Amino acid sequence: MRNLKNILVTGGAGFIGCNFIRLLLEQEPAFTGRIINLDALTYAGNIASLADLAGQFGGTRYCFEHGDICDRGFVDALFKKYGVDTVVHFAAESHVDRSIYGPETFIKTNVMGTFTLLDAARNAWKQGDGSIRDDVLFHHISTDEVYGSLGETGAFSETSPYDPRSPYSAGKASSDHLVMAYHHTYGLPITLSNCSNNYGPYQFPEKLIPLMILNIVEGKPLPVYGDGRNIRDWVYVEDHNRGVWTILHTGVTGEKYNIGGENEWENIRLLHTLIDLVSKKAGLDPEKARGTITFVKDRPGHDRRYAIDCSKIKRELGWTRKVGFEEGLAKTVDWYLANTSWVDGIRSGEYQRWVEQNYGERR
Ligand code: NAD
Ligand code: TYD
Repeated sequence: MRNLKNILVTGGAGFIGCNFIRLLLEQEPAFTGRIINLDALTYAGNIASLADLAGQFGGTRYCFEHGDICDRGFVDALFKKYGVDTVVHFAAESHVDRSIYGPETFIKTNVMGTFTLLDAARNAWKQGDGSIRDDVLFHHISTDEVYGSLGETGAFSETSPYDPRSPYSAGKASSDHLVMAYHHTYGLPITLSNCSNNYGPYQFPEKLIPLMILNIVEGKPLPVYGDGRNIRDWVYVEDHNRGVWTILHTGVTGEKYNIGGENEWENIRLLHTLIDLVSKKAGLDPEKARGTITFVKDRPGHDRRYAIDCSKIKRELGWTRKVGFEEGLAKTVDWYLANTSWVDGIRSGEYQRWVEQNYGERR
């Protein structure tokens, strides 16, 4: 079992990263080390998501560093300053639609940013004889989307061939290959995980589940791409992060693990479930919300179906999910209904103004 002391979490102000930091500091007594959160605070990063933890653990077990993973000098300095022994690399541009509209940032952050981190780690962890320490770890967070699109049956396993089809997934696939290349070529101790669609608190409200929850509450149109019959596999963010934590501790160096929810839903069916749930909790008329469903032009290259075979992490590392879909969706809806100021801060531009005053212009 690895003993992790100084964990550099990249993208810790984003959806999955901030939930990961919460999990470690609030729920994992086995973790006694320090987290350094490196985040550029792009439109998707929200440092307010961790304001309470910064108050509780700030300066001792939690430090925030505002910066870009592509900035080699800055990243090198962080490795030195904190004696980083572990990297958990979440930072990425993550929204497929944005990658279709403007792919360049995706290639910069997801490919060049990952390369910069890997090379900085290799340099920082190199020993006098040129070999790399074996008490360190670079864990890379990736996606099921690198495997492409499935037909009606089957599931992606760790040995499925890569077949990315959007600029987002192509960039993530490139970063996965770089991670493996750094392991095979330089002996960098790495692990890698590919996960299906996450849902839960703190997700930026452009992704399907939070967007639909908020639009239902606000009586806005509910845009469904194409025929609405695309299928995604949904996993609660905390279950995903427990999988990451399990890999950090006990995952075999050089191995990749798929993490999934074994929980496939057609988008349109999921939307009807959300309409019922949100309407019940918010005291709204579900039929009125159903009337706002709007079938819109399909996403170009829209992957039809994702499904993950996660038997390897279950069998080899003993990971299991704790949160069923009904419970997870209820928790998620409750969170968005209770945390309107988090959403309003983003939507009103108030949060952006605060970041610019405190951290300077955002990218
Ligand atoms: P997110 O978009 O919510 O957060 C990304 C974070 O990275 C933000 O805080 C942003 O400010 C930061 N960031 C972006 N560019 C940066 C840069 N150049 N330097 C430093 N920080 C930068 O994303 P998420 O949904 O939390 O996803 C996290 C990771 O998990 C990504 O690598 C993504 O590919 C992967 N993933 C996500 C899902 C999902 O369903 N959300 C599923 C599988 C894998
Ligand atoms: P999304 O949350 O963007 O995640 P991903 O593309 O990474 O799977 O989308 C989930 C599914 O929902 C995907 O099939 C696209 C679809 N979708 C809509 O139908 N309408 C929307 O407004 C959004 C954002 C997504």
